[in-house]
Amino acid sequence: MKTRNVLDLTDLTHDELMAVIRLADDIRKKPADYAEVCRGRILATLFYEPSTRTQMSFQTAMLRLGGTIIGFANPQNSSVAKGESLKDTITVVGGYTDIIAIRHPLEGTAAAAAMYSPVPVVNAGDGGHLHPTQTLTDVVTLHNEMGRLDNLTIGLCGDLKNGRTVHSLIKTMSTFKGNRFILISTPELTIPQYIKDIINASECTYKEIPSLADAMPQLDVLYMTRIQRERFSSIEEYNRQHGVFILDKEKLRTAKKNMKILHPLPRVDEIDVEVDYDDRAKYFEQTVYGMYGRMALIMKLLEKGDKKYPARIMPSHPFGCKNPKCITSTEKYLPGIFREAGGDMLICKYCDGRRLI
Ligand code: CP
Repeated sequence: MKTRNVLDLTDLTHDELMAVIRLADDIRKKPADYAEVCRGRILATLFYEPSTRTQMSFQTAMLRLGGTIIGFANPQNSSVAKGESLKDTITVVGGYTDIIAIRHPLEGTAAAAAMYSPVPVVNAGDGGHLHPTQTLTDVVTLHNEMGRLDNLTIGLCGDLKNGRTVHSLIKTMSTFKGNRFILISTPELTIPQYIKDIINASECTYKEIPSLADAMPQLDVLYMTRIQRERFSSIEEYNRQHGVFILDKEKLRTAKKNMKILHPLPRVDEIDVEVDYDDRAKYFEQTVYGMYGRMALIMKLLEKGDKKYPARIMPSHPFGCKNPKCITSTEKYLPGIFREAGGDMLICKYCDGRRLI
């Protein structure tokens, strides 16, 4: 595979993505054929933020491929607690290992890590920004459960502002023709403008509505999400949003018989437990599809097997990003890098935040 780092799933070409999906299916059907393919290779999981599924499915993926794992689940148990920079941590860990999966509470961290890593970097979630391997999980699930990735009506419900899984999923599904996104949220938690711009530039459409019940009969897929408490500045603000959308058996009465219910998990209470026993609920199967997706991605990223420290990247502009949740707000040595978005508008390379020149 030509792609070296996966900061978002759209870093893969369409052909690369489809090859990963097909490989994930083959591994799921014939796991013994792949039990030794990563013998001698080492995955680092650097998790600066809590995780169950992403961390453990990356780890089990590498172990099932015959490789081994190192890393931390709590940066306070590493030299990060002594003040070590992201740049130095990545440079050192990249010297020990063959591939790095990193999760961090700040947006753009994986992009920053990739600037210093001699081995492939996979974004395992960067703040409220992106979560490409959750999207890989989602598309492997849809490919198997729906039989297609185009011409689907997909309802996304909950915290569309802070839900990184939603952002990555829309970006990837917008690359397939004819998908219709129904965005169900409160006015405070609508999708960021840059994601709407991506849909507008694609062959897909969206509409925003405040009612899950109104959307339900149209949907081929319902993607429920948790209200992301850790992204709110106060508990009062979170409490105003929490509990607005709850999926229960009664709400499913008007849903299509073959609709699929997905959720990246963890669930808090936005899906009633009784829904788990409905045949349309696929969120636990989804977690297993994700492990096979990550096995396939690791294999493809390790095909080249070279180790190369990237050349120094120079700033594109003499100033920084204004987003306080961007990794550049704490790792001050990072060069300010922006792409031009027309007029005086610039978009930060790390976090997709916008600022004026
Ligand atoms: N879906 C997901 O990212 O779950 P974790 O936070 O448990 O990794």
